[in-house]
Amino acid sequence: MPNTQQPIIRVDNLSFNYPEEAVLKEINLEIYPGECLAILGLSGSGKSTLLNLLASLDTPTAGEIHYVFQDQEYTVDSDGLTLKKGNTTKPISRDTLRSHFGFVFQTPFMLGNFNASDNIGLPLRLRRKPVKEIHHLENEMLNAVKLQGKGNLSADQLSGGQRQRVAIGRALIHRPAVVFADEPTGNLDSATAKGVMETFLNIVIKERQNALVLVTHDPCVAAYYADRIVYLVKETPDEGSVLVHRGLEGLEDIRQHCSKAVQHFFN
Ligand SMILES: Nc1ncnc2c1ncn2[C@@H]1O[C@H](COP(=O)(O)OP(=O)(O)O)[C@@H](O)[C@H]1O
Ligand SMILES: [Mg+2]
Repeated sequence: MPNTQQPIIRVDNLSFNYPEEAVLKEINLEIYPGECLAILGLSGSGKSTLLNLLASLDTPTAGEIHYVFQDQEYTVDSDGLTLKKGNTTKPISRDTLRSHFGFVFQTPFMLGNFNASDNIGLPLRLRRKPVKEIHHLENEMLNAVKLQGKGNLSADQLSGGQRQRVAIGRALIHRPAVVFADEPTGNLDSATAKGVMETFLNIVIKERQNALVLVTHDPCVAAYYADRIVYLVKETPDEGSVLVHRGLEGLEDIRQHCSKAVQHFFN
């Protein structure tokens, strides 16, 4: 299991407050390559906030997040991002760190002027990769997310599930070390949700041994797909949520409680 390896992300005593509300309190967490980690919690418990902090889209109020990618060590704290070189550290742009990430938002978005293929290739276009390579990888990804033949369609010609698969293709095409997905199946019917999760697991974990951090409020989705679940729990109204870790046996317990229909569907 994952903990025989070095974590690629280590969260130390991370807290996050809005001026009017404490959201997260002293969170500690490690994320390993090759695992699907699910973050569960009630609505408003701070799941999206934690995911945004992990993806360096937001800045901690206190505590630190450490990352190790391709032997480079990065640290984010309330002062921003630094890269460690030998015994010294220097501030760097967050784009360098974010290039290791893919992000899928709950509501799928496509840039309106671009077709499905162009939307999937966006991260490569922003990196100014050669056009031939981009087209090759876009076609490969269209197949992987089961949208072959639909590359020329625009957002209004695609269903919600198809747009979500475009968003997944875009999050995966640059082969990020970690994919963060915020309720990626929240707006989908069960059959489409199953397809979406299987695409993720095949591409992120089975093919590449990268990490998937999955935020969901649905314990059954987490129990069937995650290797590990952590829970955000708001214990008192005035303090931020704490992170509760439970053992692997917790997964089997949850599966037992998923409805018969769900068990039948996922098995
Ligand atoms: N931009 C914001 N400004 C102020 N409060 C916010 C903002 N975004 C989220 N919150 C509050 O932070 C808390 C956690 O939100 P969020 O991380 O979105 O929870 P979850 O994803 O678990 O539903 C909620 O009480 C929410 O109202
Ligand atoms: Mg949320």
